[in-house]
Amino acid sequence: MLESLTKSYGKAGTAVVDGINLEIENGEFVVLLGPSGCGKTTTLRMIAGLEKITSGSIKFGDKVMNDIPGDRRNVGMVFQNYALYPHMSVFENLAFGLRSRGTTKVEAAIRVDEVLEMLELSAMKRRKPRELSGGQRQRVALGRALVGRPSVFLMDEPLSNLDANLREQMRIEIGKLHHSLGITTIYVTHDQGEALTLADRIVVMHNGTIKQVAKPREIYNSPADSFVAKFIGSPGMNLTEVELRTDGDRIRGGEAISLPREAARVVGSHLNKKVLLGIRPELLSLVGDENDAKIVGEIQLVEQMGSQLQTYFKIEGPSSSQNFIAKLPPDSTPRIGEKIALFARPSDLRFFDALSGNALDRLLDIDEVKAESLVG
Ligand SMILES: Nc1ncnc2c1ncn2[C@@H]1O[C@H](COP(=O)(O)OP(=O)(O)OP(=O)(O)O)[C@@H](O)[C@H]1O
Ligand SMILES: [Mg+2]
Repeated sequence: MLESLTKSYGKAGTAVVDGINLEIENGEFVVLLGPSGCGKTTTLRMIAGLEKITSGSIKFGDKVMNDIPGDRRNVGMVFQNYALYPHMSVFENLAFGLRSRGTTKVEAAIRVDEVLEMLELSAMKRRKPRELSGGQRQRVALGRALVGRPSVFLMDEPLSNLDANLREQMRIEIGKLHHSLGITTIYVTHDQGEALTLADRIVVMHNGTIKQVAKPREIYNSPADSFVAKFIGSPGMNLTEVELRTDGDRIRGGEAISLPREAARVVGSHLNKKVLLGIRPELLSLVGDENDAKIVGEIQLVEQMGSQLQTYFKIEGPSSSQNFIAKLPPDSTPRIGEKIALFARPSDLRFFDALSGNALDRLLDIDEVKAESLVG
């Protein structure tokens, strides 16, 4: 558990980790996700005891760890650059830490063999790191952290040195490993694909603070603010500032956006106010009807992505034009310069405060709205 955990460098330095609070369950896989420089590594290093904390506290269970040296915290750490001893064999790399903590030679050998077996590295046991592939080296680094039977597993971008295929393979292995061993894991990455697939919960960080802690699905569906909305998803959520007003049987936001009158309940108290309207690129469609939100824009660029066409289009906002992205089916034929209408379900729209960017109250599901209006 992290309580008001803070780190600043220098005397009057600004906090690079700024009073974060986080409770982690036993056996949970938590991913710290955020852009470069947001404080992920610093947070992990404080938990590992490699970095002195400026204020706040770190607890494992009920035990305050603040002043417990790193080598007595029983954490296993895996770094981005493996940091294997080049002159030692795979076996020695794994045994070294155990031996230096006083494990007998026989016991160390048994435990190392066990871990090598588990990671399918037994055949590589006598090799030096330079005689291994990147993926094998990364497995040795995992093994070295595992062999000490840590109660907490800390990983800092462990896959970022691997090529795309290997990264995916290792990601699956890490997922399986966690599934079988159930060790509490804190995993740092700026790759949201890794975060969304591995995490029980994702912690989105920005500028030394936590923006949202939630299950991957919730982070994706209900981002806590416009930063998280933009950061999650590839590409992130489309956002535009609008002021929605009732106009006949529609609700309009400038020239480009219109919603059915029925969506009034979805829009709720955000009517006649400046808000940020958000919609995910994958939830925009070329087909729709009068029950859908309609967004009109001019196509600027079409990128062939294999399974879809990533289509960039310009919509007219209240003050200036805005760029939106839609993922369209590969057999559609959007043409540059063409003006098209895109549709979205009103329940897929998200609203954020125009100033703070904070998500505005959770939307009612449109089906629920319809049912209610039938009754009422
Ligand atoms: N020893 C140090 N002295 C001063 N500032 C530091 C030091 N170490 C890190 N920082 C600053 O702290 C901030 C957070 O760094 P940190 O390494 O935790 O970021 P990160 O989220 O891990 O980024 P990345 O994704 O690039 O690894 C950065 O602005 C960095 O410049
Ligand atoms: Mg880092």
